[in-house]
Amino acid sequence: MEVERVQEIATLSNLNGTIPSEFIRLDNEQPASTTLHGVVLEVPVIDLSQTDNESLVDLISKASKDWGLFQVVNHGIPSELISKLQKVGKEFFELPQEEKEVIAKPDGYKGVEGYGTKLQKEVQGKKGWVDHLFHIVWPPSSINYQFWPKNPPSYRDTNEEYAQSLIGVANKLLGLLSKGLGLEEDEVKQALGGEDLVYMLKINYYPPCPCPELALGVAPHTDMSSITILVPNEVQGLQVFKDGDWYDVAYIPNALIIHIGDQIEILSNGKYKSVYHRTTVNKEKTRMSWPVFLEPPLEFEVGPIPKLVNKDDPPKYKTKKYKDYVYCKLNKLPQ
Ligand code: SIN
Ligand code: FE2
Repeated sequence: MEVERVQEIATLSNLNGTIPSEFIRLDNEQPASTTLHGVVLEVPVIDLSQTDNESLVDLISKASKDWGLFQVVNHGIPSELISKLQKVGKEFFELPQEEKEVIAKPDGYKGVEGYGTKLQKEVQGKKGWVDHLFHIVWPPSSINYQFWPKNPPSYRDTNEEYAQSLIGVANKLLGLLSKGLGLEEDEVKQALGGEDLVYMLKINYYPPCPCPELALGVAPHTDMSSITILVPNEVQGLQVFKDGDWYDVAYIPNALIIHIGDQIEILSNGKYKSVYHRTTVNKEKTRMSWPVFLEPPLEFEVGPIPKLVNKDDPPKYKTKKYKDYVYCKLNKLPQ
């Protein structure tokens, strides 16, 4: 059988300190030569428990305009729950290979859910040093439990509890983003599908890589989601592109990393920016991350919010169904 999962490739005994050529990035992408080292990037860190709502609106909207990325602390999700989420995810990826394959994305299946490795190669045929698991965690009517690990047995309860606890944070962030655009608190959420907003969890599993200076985990991209709420483990890896350079984003225990995605850039008519980011990998350690993408329902149309466009500020983006946006982006077609 052809070895396909990066986790299996990483354990091959004949690697001898090298990696297969499809994982070696071109010179202009290799992290060793393209990262601005020695500079710790101060992406905004925002205390969500502060009671001055106006200042919170200002901080979040400024971060979403300047960076498209910020971290939040005192967000109300207990650190024990974050640790449990990480523990059960790690236990799943440490199961024997055949047990993980039980929930692999079925051949020819159109959805994104399931365990797997990105099949389509990127530009110049390169691949990321990462395996993943995708499954929806909210709302209950959208959940397909067939893609949830049965093992460890506490996987389901833990992920359900985490999804529940994210709802408050998600609503709060969307409300603040809405206020920052001069809108009512609920307007941004409604422009994304309201209560039908889909919470899609991904687990990224980046095994140790013999040549971390030559490879990337996830290639540079912006997220298609509205916002992404991400928990990383303690291994450094997330980088953002700012003013022409790549920088490491500092790891803060128990913080949530918030990415502004394409749908928020679109509905804000470009006032908020979706963040261009990528991940690096580590020579000795396994990196993992748990992004939750808040996505409009596939049939839901997203476009610049009418109140935000006028003669002087005409729409910069088309209004289209989320599924059409995804199709164009994945197939590299014009939007
Ligand atoms: C991603 O952008 O998909 C992954 C980000 C991360 O692992 O921190
Ligand atoms: Fe991403």
